[in-house]
Amino acid sequence: MILVTGGAGYIGSHACVELLNAGKQVVVLDNFSNSSRTSLERIRQICRKPLAVVEGDIRDQAVIEKTLREFGCTAVVHFAGLKSVFESVSSPLDYYDNNVIGTHRLLRAMQGCGIKRIIFSSSATVYGDPKFLPYTEDHPLGPVNPYGQTKFFVEQMLRDLFVSDRSWSIGILRYFNPIGAHESGLIGEDPKGVPNNLLPFVAQVAVGRRERLNIFGNDYDTPDGTGVRDYIHVVDLAQGHVAALASLDKPACFAVNLGTGRGYSVLEVVKAFEKASGRPVPYDLRPRRAGDVATCYAGTDLATKVLGGWRATKDLETMCRDHWRWQSQNPNGYDA
Ligand code: NAD
Ligand code: WQD
Repeated sequence: MILVTGGAGYIGSHACVELLNAGKQVVVLDNFSNSSRTSLERIRQICRKPLAVVEGDIRDQAVIEKTLREFGCTAVVHFAGLKSVFESVSSPLDYYDNNVIGTHRLLRAMQGCGIKRIIFSSSATVYGDPKFLPYTEDHPLGPVNPYGQTKFFVEQMLRDLFVSDRSWSIGILRYFNPIGAHESGLIGEDPKGVPNNLLPFVAQVAVGRRERLNIFGNDYDTPDGTGVRDYIHVVDLAQGHVAALASLDKPACFAVNLGTGRGYSVLEVVKAFEKASGRPVPYDLRPRRAGDVATCYAGTDLATKVLGGWRATKDLETMCRDHWRWQSQNPNGYDA
């Protein structure tokens, strides 16, 4: 049995599907602060398998210990946490509380139960401003916002834990820009309020929920002047977790990038989404957004080596098509 924290969220729900499809049993622990219970129903619908659920908070050590024992868990895939860079600047204490203290309590609970296998959702944001590209895993770490700091601190906590007890198996996965949705269109990203990220915003414009996209900056040193990012299909990303779990069958502590290794500009994404949806995505060119870098993409060789040959295979067209299927079938998200 695998404990998936934050399994009702965007990436967690896709990981639950891939774990169930790989024959694992799954229990989700989520406080539903940024998700809907409907996503769990949809996972059951896709997989036609049981999925256990505990409503709880990762900061509650007793609940985690009880869950780990009751369900006989052997590993944890840890997604739960807060993820908005913007919000982390205005509410840093909430971010340190949920992400750092929450993970500390989770690790204590695991230690108390003798469960020493964990996969952690880190982020490319731990690298900070690029000293060179692509970002390989040996790129210096230097997060530039509180959200990124929380990921960095948790990574450090995990590395220190491994040094103290080398019987742990720890996989740190640094995600680049996950987009897309399961091909059924039943699960996908459902941000609360105004989306901070590009794809959900573009999709909401295409579906008619918002009028126009703001493109932040067209004077970067990139081929068309707009920011370049490494977008990865969320199903590829989810499958990376199944591969990581298999690699953690022996003690280890590794950190690898999950990306495709190639970047697309904002304008390329807008065009691809217009093509996939058949809808226009009108936009306005705006000044640069504070904290953005021009270009960000992953070195992927280490991940392929460590994760037993895993690599992302879905292209931008597929990402946009799948994202659009989810958005058009659920124009107002899960609980409309
Ligand atoms: P999400 O907000 O959709 O999912 C997070 C889930 O965790 C939600 O279901 C939320 O209700 C739950 N949660 C939050 N705090 C909790 C707590 N204290 N206790 C229990 N449950 C809690 O986010 P996501 O996009 O699926 O991201 C999953 C993980 O991946 C996060 O850790 C995030 O930082 C990381 N990540 C995301 C991205 C991205 O672009 N989406 C990129 C890099 C890393
Ligand atoms: C992508 C590009 C924007 C919105 C963030 C986090 C990172 C990770 C993924 C969690 C940039 C441009 C965006 C809009 C725009 N999350 N843009 N108009 O900033 O690469 O990464 O999400 O770990 O930590 O920082 O992703 O989707 O916000 O932006 O022009 O309305 O789209 O300027 O060039 P980002 P994003």
